[in-house]
Amino acid sequence: MADFVTGAVAHRRKFGGGKGQMIAKAVGIKGSIRPSVADVTAGLGRDSFVLATLGCEVEMVERSPVIHCLLESGLKIAQEDSETADIAERMRLEHADSIEWLARVADTQRPDVVYVDPMFPHTDKTAQVKKEMAVFRDVVGEDPDAEALLRAALDCAEYRVVVKRSRKAPEISGPVSKVLRRVSSCWVSPAGMTFTR
Ligand SMILES: C[S@@+](CC[C@H](N)C(=O)[O-])C[C@H]1O[C@@H](n2cnc3c(N)ncnc32)[C@H](O)[C@@H]1O
Repeated sequence: MADFVTGAVAHRRKFGGGKGQMIAKAVGIKGSIRPSVADVTAGLGRDSFVLATLGCEVEMVERSPVIHCLLESGLKIAQEDSETADIAERMRLEHADSIEWLARVADTQRPDVVYVDPMFPHTDKTAQVKKEMAVFRDVVGEDPDAEALLRAALDCAEYRVVVKRSRKAPEISGPVSKVLRRVSSCWVSPAGMTFTR
């Protein structure tokens, strides 16, 4: 369930550290600067919600019909809740494959930042994470086309591509080491900041 109103996401909205969060630094939130973001691996929308909470306009793209459906209903509930309505207002959702979606973006509509967080083999230890991740993985599977997605992101972003990547995850092959700069567990382009899971 994509839940933006209660639970962990709500707790992070209230107590999560605002602009000091690593994700904020990674996309380039600073002073009054709020880049527009295309989250091309929207998943359950948690990262998008953090960015929208901080004031970014976020376009979310998700290809799994099941996850898209969960995200759509979570977004609708957030739109109807007085505490989250203004945040949800900044979030738009597309059901598409992002490689194709990014190729269709008009020159005048390019997002400042493209945010990429593909699936990878997890080694998280807690039973709770294992259970949640196992269900999610059963639904979406793995993302073997992450390299093509990254290339499309690099072609489309106006200013920066941010790749969320655990330290333990294998690198996305292809353009990463040539075009992006690794700082801690995150790859960024062209000028970098970092954040961790
Ligand atoms: C690790 S999850 C993202 C989690 C998300 N950052 C969050 O905060 O909830 C990766 C998601 O990206 C989606 N995805 C991967 N490649 C995609 C593509 N080419 N187009 C659209 N969605 C994609 C998967 O279906 C999956 O739901």
